[in-house]
Amino acid sequence: MKVYVPLDAAARALGADEVVAALQAEAMRRGVALDVVRNGSRGMVWLEPLVEVETPAGRMGFGPMEAASVAQVFDGGSLAIGLVEDLPWMKAQTRLTFARCGVIDPLSVEDYRAHGGFAGLARALAMRVEERLDEVTASGLRGRGGAGFPTGIKWRTVAGAVADRKYIVCNADEGDSGTFADRMIMEGDPLSLIEGMVIAGITVGATHGFVYLRSEYPDAIAVMNLAVLAARAAGMLGASVMGSGIAFDMEIRVGAGAYVCGEETSLLNSLEGKRGVVRAKPPLPALEGFMSKPTVVNNVISLATIPVIFERGAAAYAAHGIGRSRGTIPLQIAGNVARGGLFEAAFGMSLGEIVDDLAGGTATGRPVKAVQVGGPLGAYFPRMLFDVPFGYEEYAGQGGLIGHAGIVVFDESADMLAQARFAMEFCAIESCGKCTPCRIGAVRGAETIDRIARGDASAIPLLHDLCDTMKAGSLCALGGFTPYPVLSALTHFPDDFARVKEAAE
Ligand SMILES: Cc1cc2nc3c(=O)[nH]c(=O)nc-3n(C[C@H](O)[C@H](O)[C@H](O)COP(=O)(O)O)c2cc1C
Ligand code: SF4
Repeated sequence: MKVYVPLDAAARALGADEVVAALQAEAMRRGVALDVVRNGSRGMVWLEPLVEVETPAGRMGFGPMEAASVAQVFDGGSLAIGLVEDLPWMKAQTRLTFARCGVIDPLSVEDYRAHGGFAGLARALAMRVEERLDEVTASGLRGRGGAGFPTGIKWRTVAGAVADRKYIVCNADEGDSGTFADRMIMEGDPLSLIEGMVIAGITVGATHGFVYLRSEYPDAIAVMNLAVLAARAAGMLGASVMGSGIAFDMEIRVGAGAYVCGEETSLLNSLEGKRGVVRAKPPLPALEGFMSKPTVVNNVISLATIPVIFERGAAAYAAHGIGRSRGTIPLQIAGNVARGGLFEAAFGMSLGEIVDDLAGGTATGRPVKAVQVGGPLGAYFPRMLFDVPFGYEEYAGQGGLIGHAGIVVFDESADMLAQARFAMEFCAIESCGKCTPCRIGAVRGAETIDRIARGDASAIPLLHDLCDTMKAGSLCALGGFTPYPVLSALTHFPDDFARVKEAAE
C-alpha cells in the first residue's frame, strides 16, 4: 500500500509526522506493507495533513487526518474526500509552476524526471544564448517577488555585461505577510527551482548561484540542501551541466531574518556578510551585484517557472493571463478565511471569485470588510473593488499592488485605523535606517495616526502630506510603499478614522 503524507511545514505543524507514525503502527498491526512517500503540499491547507492513498483510479484523499483516525485510511470513513485531482480546488487551477508540487517525492530525481523535470533544461541547452533570452522575454514572465520587472530584460542586461564572474541569486526571503508560495515549492518541488537557476546561469554566463533563504524556514532549508546534493549527483549541477561542458553550481545561504533583507540590494549586502542595508541604485545589481559582479536577482517563483516555460514553450505560457500580466500566479489565500491555501491561476481572476468562491468567505462567518493584497506594503481593498482583475497594471490603477500575491482577508470586526497604524509601525521597526523619509517618517506616521485616533481630525491632512513625502523621497519600496496600506485604509474606510471623535462628542 502506497500512501503520501506531506513533509510540508504547514502539514507538519498540523501533525503530519504524528500521522505517519500512527499509519506505520496501524499498518504493522494489520500486517500491511506500507510505503510512505513524503510529498509536498497540494496547497489545500485546510485539509492538512492530507493523506493520499494510491489506487488504480488515482489518489484517494483523507483529510484533515489525525493520528487517532488513521484506521480510516485502511477502512474508509468520514475523512475520505474522494480523488484529490477531482476536487474542485484542484480542477479549477492552471498548475504550471506547481504542476509537480504535492505529486512527486521532492527529493527523487527519478520522480522529477518522470513528471517533466529536466525537459526545459534539455531544450534550453539545445538553444543558443540569444534564443534562450528571446524565449524568456516572449513568455512575458515578470518578477514574482513583488516589483513585476520583466525577467527577460533583467537576464539580457546580465548576459550583456562583461565580467570575469557573474552570479544568480535566488531571493527566498519571502517576508510578505500571508505568503508561502516560495516555501511550498522549495519543500514540494525543489528541483524545479534548481533547474530554473541552472537555465538562468547558462543563459547569462553565471557559474555560481545562491539561494538566500530565511532562517524561519528550517524545513525548506533542509529540503533545498538535500535537493542540491541530488541535483549534483544527477549531473544537473557541476563542472559540466548535463554533459554540456558548461559549469554551474550553487549553494544555500541562510539569512538571519529582517524584512528589508528581501529587498535585493539589502539581500546582497547580507549575502556578502555585511549589515542588511539598502544600496542606492544605480548601479543596478544586474551590472554590479554580488561582490560588485553582474548578478541576476530573482524570486523563487520567477526562477521555478523557467523550466515549464522552456518545456512547453514561451507562447504556451504567454497564452495565459491578461494585458501585460502573462502566465499564471500562485495566489496565496490567508487570514480570516474558511479555506486558506495556494491556488495557481492565470492572471485575471477577481478578488470576489478568490475570496467568496475559492476561500468560501471568512472563517468567522462575518462579512468580509477588507482584503490586503501584496503583503505589508499592499493596499486594503474594499468590496466595491472586488471586480478588479488580478494583474500588475490593473492593481496599480487602483492604488494597489499584487506584490508576491499574498491575499489576507479581514472580516467586519477589523479596525482599519489600527491596521494603518500597524503599517507605519511595521515600517518603523523594519526600516534599514538609510533614508530619512522612512526612518523618521514611519515613526511620525504612527504618532500622527495616534492623534487621529484621539479625535484630532486636523492630523488627517498631515498624514496625507507625510505619505506624499514617504512615497516621493524614500530610497526603496519599504518607505515608498508603506503609504499604500495607510492611504487605502483612510480612503476606503473613513468611518474608522472618525469614530473616536464621534465617541468623544
Ligand atoms: C522591503 C522589500 C522587501 C522585499 N522582499 C522580497 C522578498 O521577500 N522576496 C522577493 O523575492 N522579493 C522581495 N522584494 C523585491 C526584491 O527587491 C526584488 O525586486 C526581487 O527579488 C527581484 O526578483 P523578481 O524580479 O524575480 O521578482 C522586496 C522588496 C522590498 C523593497
Ligand atoms: S526606504 Fe526605509 S528601508 Fe528603504 S532605504 Fe530608506 S530607510 Fe532603508
